[in-house]
Amino acid sequence: MTQAVFITLEGIEGVGKTSAVACVADWLRDHGRAVTVTREPGGTELGERVRALVLEHNDVPIAPLAELLLMFAARAQHLEQRIRPALARGESVVCDRFTDATYAYQGGGRGLPLRHIDSAAELVHGDLWPTLTVLLDASPEVGLSRARARSAADRFESEKLQFFERVRAAYLERASREARRFAVIDASQDMAKVHADIRALLAARLP
Ligand code: TMP
Repeated sequence: MTQAVFITLEGIEGVGKTSAVACVADWLRDHGRAVTVTREPGGTELGERVRALVLEHNDVPIAPLAELLLMFAARAQHLEQRIRPALARGESVVCDRFTDATYAYQGGGRGLPLRHIDSAAELVHGDLWPTLTVLLDASPEVGLSRARARSAADRFESEKLQFFERVRAAYLERASREARRFAVIDASQDMAKVHADIRALLAARLP
């Protein structure tokens, strides 16, 4: 039987993650794999409620450390309810964001100490890391102008350009430290080229 793989897609807003997730899932299905597609924060009832809480503009103040723990609370539920069961059934999992987003946004963006994220990641998923993480990379100018043309800005999208510069730098730093797990794709190219790069990457990297 083909080995189940866990693939995550990462990047700042407006880099085309949603269509890239569909591209990865289609490729896996075309190659005979059963696939679960999901996202973070989200993927479960609890996760979707956390998503609404942290993304919507509301009057609820959220301290950076509380934001970090909410992301991990949603993730703990997601792992228990969706990700681990799917992998145990032999299904591949394609997830729109995972713990690398926490390092990028709560670490890089909010400036929380990385050791706190290390501890929470160890507690919540231990050694379970993605087989492959595709980082769609583009400048915040490119990403945010696309995201803002698409819909009204959510709580994160309302952050300043410098916030996204820190998020992007944190992603690139993780990708260079963990080059075996990550692949960086230039998301400023047109969508057809980005998807062609993704398919070539999957063909080269997957067992
Ligand atoms: P999106 O995936 O639809 O772009 O929205 C999710 C938002 O949540 C995005 O702004 C990044 C943010 N986020 C974090 O800040 N930390 C996390 O751990 C995750 C998974 C997402």
